[in-house]
Amino acid sequence: MSFTRDTRTVENSRAIRGHIVTFKADPFFTDDFLVEYSDGLVIIKDGKVSEVGDYQALKGKIGDLKVDSYPDKIISAGFVDSHIHYSQTEIIAAFGKHLIDWLNDYTFPCEMQFKENEHANEVASIFCDELLRNGTTTSMTFTATYPESVDAIFEAAHQRNMRIIAGKVLMDRNAPEGLLDTAETAYSDSKALAEKWHGTGRLHYAVTPRFAPTSTPAELEAAGQLLKDDPSLWMHTHLAEQIPECHWVAQLFPKARNYLDVYDKAGLVRERSMFAHCIHLDMQERILMSERGAAAAHCPTSNLFLGSGLFPMDIAKNPKHPTRVGLGTDIGAGTQFSQLSTMGEAYKVSNLLSMANGKRTPINGMHLFFLATLGGAEAMYLDDKIGSIAAGKEADIIVLDPEATDLLKFRSSRCTDTEEQLFVLATMGDETTVAATYINGALAYERDQ
Ligand code: GUN
Ligand code: ZN
Repeated sequence: MSFTRDTRTVENSRAIRGHIVTFKADPFFTDDFLVEYSDGLVIIKDGKVSEVGDYQALKGKIGDLKVDSYPDKIISAGFVDSHIHYSQTEIIAAFGKHLIDWLNDYTFPCEMQFKENEHANEVASIFCDELLRNGTTTSMTFTATYPESVDAIFEAAHQRNMRIIAGKVLMDRNAPEGLLDTAETAYSDSKALAEKWHGTGRLHYAVTPRFAPTSTPAELEAAGQLLKDDPSLWMHTHLAEQIPECHWVAQLFPKARNYLDVYDKAGLVRERSMFAHCIHLDMQERILMSERGAAAAHCPTSNLFLGSGLFPMDIAKNPKHPTRVGLGTDIGAGTQFSQLSTMGEAYKVSNLLSMANGKRTPINGMHLFFLATLGGAEAMYLDDKIGSIAAGKEADIIVLDPEATDLLKFRSSRCTDTEEQLFVLATMGDETTVAATYINGALAYERDQ
């Protein structure tokens, strides 16, 4: 049995004791990246971390706060999912297609259901509870083209006080008629939704063109205009996921220098822009992303499931042109809500590539946990608020159980340091590894209730 709570109304001042593991910098670029207290304490006041440190040093400051004690557990910042589609929750594991056929045969029919409030509300609620069960406290999610589908996810997230980024999907061509908008309604509906939701509670709005093939140049211009009108908005789209998609973009936009240039011409390549996949890019495109501060969402379970390709982390994290990278589950092409499972697949992709490149250093447990926490927060430009356990940040915190199953307990007992323990969790963990999820200091999910 487990439960989720409406976290807006419950106690959000407390202390949490356990083995704290969190990040202060990017392990791809520095050795001084970790904050760790083997017997640590986080003091939380009104949803925010007021202090974090060694239990013995801080225990005098607990006062009359309740202490939630987790001996033998790991206390981490909540996971950040940089790219997901709440509206595709019901088509996870749709068999045997590559991207364009998968969209036409499964995805578009599925998303047409989200015109109905009742359906959208039901799925949004299941989706948010599933995130909490998996320790994901923030996500950047696609919706469907209908404004109702946006209201549904923002309402569900607001009810749970989750910090999320979402927006109406823009598509005015190359999809079924019933799912299309127009450049004009893309603009007016997005504007109205952003006015309604952007900055409400912990919610943010993202202008969300699906991808270049499903938007006319006029609609991409409208997307760019929305960002000009309100530069504080986010932008969320797909980029260079499969090779046939890249060829299609070249046909549709013959004047563009490359795929990213299609978005750049419309003013969509900037800070707070999230591009999902970014597999088949050339060096010019990667350098532009780096210069503009745009981010890539690495979605390994999806990339393997749809046969898309292998995301080159070593190029994205090249110190000469570093890119902000988060991990995305990309549900429903992705197969797991769990960021732990996603980390495990990210490692395998990196190991495959390191073999192909003749370099034998795949990413390790520290890199993986960074990508799923502070790295994701940096990719989303939310690292002033979330992504690590640090004074002043919001207390989105998870409790991970290295003894969640008999086998995991046995394997964890053989770990000799934290890096090995994190790698074991990334490889063997899933939602059963998440013992508790705190949203803004309030207990939102508890596995063993
Ligand atoms: N490219 C355009 N739309 C989609 C989508 O819904 N999922 C994935 N994985 N790629 C896309
Ligand atoms: Zn996607």
